[in-house]
Amino acid sequence: MTEHRPHSATTAMGNRHDYLPAAGRDALLPTYDLLTRTLGVPRVHQRLIDQADLRDDHKILEVGCGTGNLTIMARRSRPAAEVTGADPDPRALSRAERKAHGLPGIRFDRAYGQELPYGDGEFDRALSSLMLHHLDDDVKAPMAAEILRVLRPGGRLHLVDVGGPMTPADGPAARLTLRGHHVAGNLGDNIPRLLREAGFDCTEVATQRHRAMGRVTYYRATRPD
Ligand SMILES: C[S@@+](CC[C@H](N)C(=O)[O-])C[C@H]1O[C@@H](n2cnc3c(N)ncnc32)[C@H](O)[C@@H]1O
Repeated sequence: MTEHRPHSATTAMGNRHDYLPAAGRDALLPTYDLLTRTLGVPRVHQRLIDQADLRDDHKILEVGCGTGNLTIMARRSRPAAEVTGADPDPRALSRAERKAHGLPGIRFDRAYGQELPYGDGEFDRALSSLMLHHLDDDVKAPMAAEILRVLRPGGRLHLVDVGGPMTPADGPAARLTLRGHHVAGNLGDNIPRLLREAGFDCTEVATQRHRAMGRVTYYRATRPD
């Protein structure tokens, strides 16, 4: 008998953890930084940081920081800010820690987005890059609720991911991506709906075609005062 199980992002690519690692499988993690540089992800990170209006007196959290590239970029852009990267993958976190070696004001914690080990209202900004499509549908709402909880009133989440108003007209990468289940939860207005249902005021800030990912879309989600 064929067993029909709902699509799970977490078990995709034969992954054996209860989270989907940055490159899909542990063995590919050493290629992640080179791959993402080649795909132009640093420009996506820079654009997200430009939108986030980070300040030196901010406490900033990246949820799903992986190997730490965005967390470190945020810290470099605001040398007096306190920046934390959280991710469930200890292998990715050791790489992040190695790269941040010697930088004050930055730390990395092993944590899941849906169970953040931080106090209510602790952060001024939260960042999330290319993380949401790694989550199973049933943890997305708890994750959004947790980010809302750890932001202060008026604090903002800046999120970028593959998807948004992506259509086959966006090119071959979009057509390939749209054939899989991977980003279905990110398409159309699914992301703003998720964030609004959690209690955020959410706006799409920008969207751009991307030669390797099809389309990436940037959101700003504010915790109401
Ligand atoms: C594609 S990587 C993105 C890493 C980094 N944000 C970047 O832009 O390069 C997705 C990350 O999400 C993390 N992740 C998977 N499940 C998670 C969860 N439940 N909570 C937080 N992060 C998660 C993975 O471990 C991985 O590091």
